[in-house]
Amino acid sequence: VAPMLLDTHGRAHTYLRISLTERCNLRCLYCMPEDGVELAPRSALLTSEEIVRLARLFVRAGVTKIRLTGGEPTIRADLEDIVSALSDLRADGLEDVAMTTNGIATHRRLGALRRAGLTRVNVSLDTLDDAKARRIIDRTGPRTTAFAMALELGFDPVKVNVVLMRGVNDDEMLDFVALTRDDAINVRFIEYMPFDGNRWETNKVVSYAEAKARIEAAHPSVRRRASDLGDPSEVAKNFTIDGHAGAVSFVTSMTDHFCGGCNRLRVMADGNLKVCLFGNAEVSLRDAMRAGASEEELEDIVRAAVRRKKATHAGMSNLASMENRSMIKIGG
Ligand code: GTP
Ligand code: 5AD
Ligand code: SF4
Repeated sequence: VAPMLLDTHGRAHTYLRISLTERCNLRCLYCMPEDGVELAPRSALLTSEEIVRLARLFVRAGVTKIRLTGGEPTIRADLEDIVSALSDLRADGLEDVAMTTNGIATHRRLGALRRAGLTRVNVSLDTLDDAKARRIIDRTGPRTTAFAMALELGFDPVKVNVVLMRGVNDDEMLDFVALTRDDAINVRFIEYMPFDGNRWETNKVVSYAEAKARIEAAHPSVRRRASDLGDPSEVAKNFTIDGHAGAVSFVTSMTDHFCGGCNRLRVMADGNLKVCLFGNAEVSLRDAMRAGASEEELEDIVRAAVRRKKATHAGMSNLASMENRSMIKIGG
């Protein structure tokens, strides 16, 4: 068996996020730059064969979980085929084939995706207010059906990602918490992170401390889940509330980063490998493949990139000024 993808800080990389497309059927204000983005030409994007080839290489190097992102992964017509091909990598040690989706077109595909071998779904949902949806995601219409369907199909857990933005949707925090009473979903409040063109400001970040205090004031029984302490790669701090079927969590990338336990690598739609969400040293696996690289050569390129990974991101005050891609081109 090949050795794990280890960096120089002792972190083993077992989780690969693959962005399938730079396109999206929404324009979330925290993700898509106001002026849009220049999309890579189709020929610059990985084909499904290239994606599966890379996935196999990563799985053989110890990756046990693959998450498909975008843009919006359901934009891709061959999504079911990709999921099915990735499912076959179970034989090589892959355990999870997951997807993060915005829920717009998800319900039409979810049954087929489940049959193709998808094991986990996270749904992005930033407002429950139809009027507000136009401002945040540039679209109206409630999107609660995606997670309801995921529950119905037996996905477990079903996570709902809420990017908190002060003055935009933080007034809905308790409405989101209320969803967890009857539905066994995990609502995760995510600290707003800066990316190219995403209108981030320090004072729009609702910190973990503040969000938790506001929820505690309404729900005194909130308790940290004991099982949290076991997994250093967990990005969320997880809580239960008495009488609630679901759970409430916080993804604290800005005020209490979790870089120390990072197990994540990213392959973006154009085939660049990004070893840190906030790192801009990228390497093109697409170019290497198209130049005829062997499996060994590709693996060497990946290992060298992983060894360059820094111990932590640059800190809240420096992230906003660093050069990085826009979120839509990274995939979260
Ligand atoms: P699970 O597999 O269910 O734990 O999902 P996930 O949290 O890894 O993935 P998801 O796509 O749902 O992302 C949720 C949020 O966590 C997004 O805002 C991501 O950008 C953020 N996140 C995920 N990985 C990292 C990371 O390595 N660093 C930072 N700073 N944030 C991350
Ligand atoms: N800050 C925090 N989270 C973000 N996401 C997208 N952009 C940002 C941002 N600027 C989240 C989405 C999605 C996940 C993949 O990343 O809500 O759920
Ligand atoms: Fe699209 Fe997701 Fe970005 Fe929103 S966060 S614009 S849904 S890719």
